[in-house]
Amino acid sequence: MHSLLSRGNAIVAYTLSLLACLTFLCFLSTLFVDYRTNATINTVKVVVKNVPDYSASREKCDLGFITFDLHANLTNLFNWNVKQLFLYLTAEYTTANNALSQVVLWDKIILRGENAILDFKSMNTKYYFWDDGNGLRNNSNVTLTLAWNIIPNAGLLPSIFARGQHSFTFPSEYTVARL
Ligand SMILES: *[C@@H]1O[C@H](CO)[C@@H](O)[C@H](O)[C@H]1NC(C)=O
Ligand SMILES: *[C@@H]1O[C@H](CO)[C@@H](O)[C@H](O)[C@H]1NC(C)=O
Ligand SMILES: *[C@@H]1O[C@H](CO)[C@@H](O)[C@H](O)[C@H]1NC(C)=O
Ligand SMILES: *[C@@H]1O[C@H](CO)[C@@H](O)[C@H](O)[C@H]1NC(C)=O
Repeated sequence: MHSLLSRGNAIVAYTLSLLACLTFLCFLSTLFVDYRTNATINTVKVVVKNVPDYSASREKCDLGFITFDLHANLTNLFNWNVKQLFLYLTAEYTTANNALSQVVLWDKIILRGENAILDFKSMNTKYYFWDDGNGLRNNSNVTLTLAWNIIPNAGLLPSIFARGQHSFTFPSEYTVARL
């Protein structure tokens, strides 16, 4: 009885260390994969409005509205250690008040096995493009970048930026019409 138990223990210990080893190898095999790839981003419609920000000071703040095209083939990013991708599109810009502002405008999860070819035209943003002041109107350098987090089966969770950005200018006049 005693020897049976200790043999069982040995088997469990062996199996566990084997599994740990395999997981580690799995992680190693994908450690040096280059997860960067090209993305093409374009803006279609760009307007800016000046509206009261009820959540904060009730002062009027800039609210940007953009629609964008996005093309990227992310098929290559999926290997056996990639469970899912978390994509997000950020806008980066500087204003008189802030050295660097970053706003997430859109995101998407792609599960393994789902279509990983992005081909979007005139997409609306998913989140509001608020500035905390009047930093959007006439801003001449707003840069859109696509990035992704890789959710792996084992190992690290790298955050990657796509190759290819898009910079655009907000109009110098506010749009007053309803959109
Ligand atoms: C990515 O873009 C670069 C130039 O911008 C090009 O040389 C390269 O071939 C592209 N790679 C792919 C996989 O399309
Ligand atoms: C996407 O990339 C994969 C792997 O490189 C390739 O087989 C496939 O043809 C590409 N699809 C498109 C639409 O470019
Ligand atoms: C625009 O901003 C990006 C970063 O947000 C910066 O890399 C780039 O140099 C800027 N371009 C100009 C013309 O200022
Ligand atoms: C917009 O910015 C340009 C310089 O980038 C400036 O010459 C112009 O006067 C600005 N327009 C307004 C309405 O602020």
